[in-house]
Amino acid sequence: MPDDGRPVDDGHSGVAMLTPTDIESQFAAVTAYWSPKVIGRVNDQYVKIARLRGEFVWHAHEAEDELFLVVRGRLRIQFEDGDVELGPGQFVVVPRGVRHNPVAAEECWVMLIETVTTQHTGEVVTSRTRSIAEQLGE
Ligand code: NI
Repeated sequence: MPDDGRPVDDGHSGVAMLTPTDIESQFAAVTAYWSPKVIGRVNDQYVKIARLRGEFVWHAHEAEDELFLVVRGRLRIQFEDGDVELGPGQFVVVPRGVRHNPVAAEECWVMLIETVTTQHTGEVVTSRTRSIAEQLGE
């Protein structure tokens, strides 16, 4: 299976071979904080995982909504109108154009669903910005 989790055509029957993706094992392959890894693709959305710790950077994605689902730990997302706290099994969709800043006091594991064109830090570029190619492991 390719790194982005898309099904592989076996070239004979035209039927894709589907295998489960194990989220826990995917997290084991992530060593750096704030460095998303693409583990799947659904139409024009990437499914990503990331380990977070500390404070990220204020930014917005002008044209794309962004989903944060907490898998382990707790995540606070700061918004200009106030904060949202997420625990395991909880998610929030950050609407396009809304400035946000994720903060994790302790290590937090998240799954993200983002349009394939979404830039990691939106309109901001910092030393933490990871390109789509880096997120794909290319
Ligand atoms: Ni964002």
